[in-house]
Amino acid sequence: MVYIEQLQQFEGQTVTLKGWQANMRESKGLLFIVLRDGSGFCQCVVNLEEVGEDVFNELKALSLESSMELTGLVKKDDRQIGGYEVQVTNGKAISASIDYPIAKKEHGVDFLMDKRHLWLRSRRQWALMRIRNAVTFEIHAFFQNRGFMQMDAPLLTPNAAEGTSTLFDIDFYGRPAYLSQSGQLYGEAMAMAMGRIYTFGPTFRAEKSKTRRHLSEFWMIEPEMAFFDNDMNMDLMEDMIREVVTKVIEKCRFELTEVLERDLTKLETVAQKFPRITYTEAVHILKGNQAVNGKTSIEVLQDDLAALQKQIADNETEIADKQSQVDAGGIKKGKLNWLKNKIDQLKVENKELQERADNIPQWLESAKNFTEGEDFGGSDETVLTRLFDSPVMVYNWPTPIKAFYMKEVEGDPNFVKGVDLLAPEGYGEIVGGSERETDIEVLLQKIKAHNLPQEVFEWYLDLRRYGSVPHSGFGLGLERLITWISGTRHIRETIPFPRLYGRVEP
Ligand code: 4AD
Ligand code: MG
Repeated sequence: MVYIEQLQQFEGQTVTLKGWQANMRESKGLLFIVLRDGSGFCQCVVNLEEVGEDVFNELKALSLESSMELTGLVKKDDRQIGGYEVQVTNGKAISASIDYPIAKKEHGVDFLMDKRHLWLRSRRQWALMRIRNAVTFEIHAFFQNRGFMQMDAPLLTPNAAEGTSTLFDIDFYGRPAYLSQSGQLYGEAMAMAMGRIYTFGPTFRAEKSKTRRHLSEFWMIEPEMAFFDNDMNMDLMEDMIREVVTKVIEKCRFELTEVLERDLTKLETVAQKFPRITYTEAVHILKGNQAVNGKTSIEVLQDDLAALQKQIADNETEIADKQSQVDAGGIKKGKLNWLKNKIDQLKVENKELQERADNIPQWLESAKNFTEGEDFGGSDETVLTRLFDSPVMVYNWPTPIKAFYMKEVEGDPNFVKGVDLLAPEGYGEIVGGSERETDIEVLLQKIKAHNLPQEVFEWYLDLRRYGSVPHSGFGLGLERLITWISGTRHIRETIPFPRLYGRVEP
């Protein structure tokens, strides 16, 4: 058996493929079957004269997602997806699929989510899962090549790491315990044993709201490094994002460009140095009091709005022009269809542009009115990254809005050495990290201030009692990174079986 992704090694030879029918059309004694086998897609042409009536009719009777085996000659054909075509000489059904529920017409997302076990077979989901796999691989490669050791942190924990509001509690043999929100605290212990470690595992947050960026179960990569300050931490974070994104663009070019139509120039900005700004600078920039590259946030947004409005107006003119050609009549069918398609396309585009234009006045309002000391909202992150058009790192955050373990800035306890990495194009925070507090007195006082029970943190405090060292780390949200790389609107499509508020099935 040969896999579709291996076809280039078999040009001019006869191979046997096994897979599922992704599409089929018939024309004058020919069947054009698009076969998918998980590794790729391939058009297989079945000629009645070549295979005979029995085989032809057996294959012709199969409908969408039926499984089959096809044998044939591999031909190079650049017009085909994957670049090859198979001229079938023999074939047979393995198992029929009757009334496949996901037809080619548009379905609502709730329906598709209910059918997630089948939806995963579609082209777009196939591309997303391949990208997820490549991202996972490249993250491991990045850390392993640098001498980091992977560790598995426990998922059942007695304590909160990231605040108590998003804990899932469970009954652990009669005593309360929680699903882990983060492996970090255990990562810190392991870093004191092994030097540089990273976790790669699931984490859980009870996020009681429906957003495009939140899952209840998501995968996090958490490196932790002994003897790293927050500058070294930011260097590592930047190197990791740059390397992973660059490698994934290389490996998944087909998935990204052909299937998902991702604009790669947006991702290629990772080649530049990521700007690093303090929280306080970010606030000034957001509120329009500090310019970036000679322009304030207010000016950039107003320019964006004007550009969108111009594009919408231009499209309107083009729609009217094409419509009048249609109305005038007397054009050939081919041209008529082309015109109608183009009009529909432009209308869809204008709807999207209008949505974007409608957002901008609200963003401007909330940027201007931002209260210093608070956390940034989604639109604030969008505005900040828009000004740089690249990922941005924001560091030195107000103490009250960050976790208890973050190290205070020397001489200024109002700020902690936290850092968030924000992705551009509205994707927002994909990494959060910090240098860790080493002063046990400060930690004790913070644990109290955060209303956390000191007893369950005694083991963590031991790390400060016995050979404490400066150390830092961060957490990368795997699905957040995939969402940005793939240009997907909603995070739910980046994980095989998403768990989020209101959904734990299938
Ligand atoms: O910023 P967070 O809460 O940081 C931590 O958990 C630290 N313990 C990390 C560390 O320093 N070791 O979460 C880290 C990242 C976020 O930047 C985001 O990418 C992702 O985890 N994340 C989520 N992703 C999907 N759904 C959610 N509900 C998420 N919450 C956080
Ligand atoms: Mg965070």
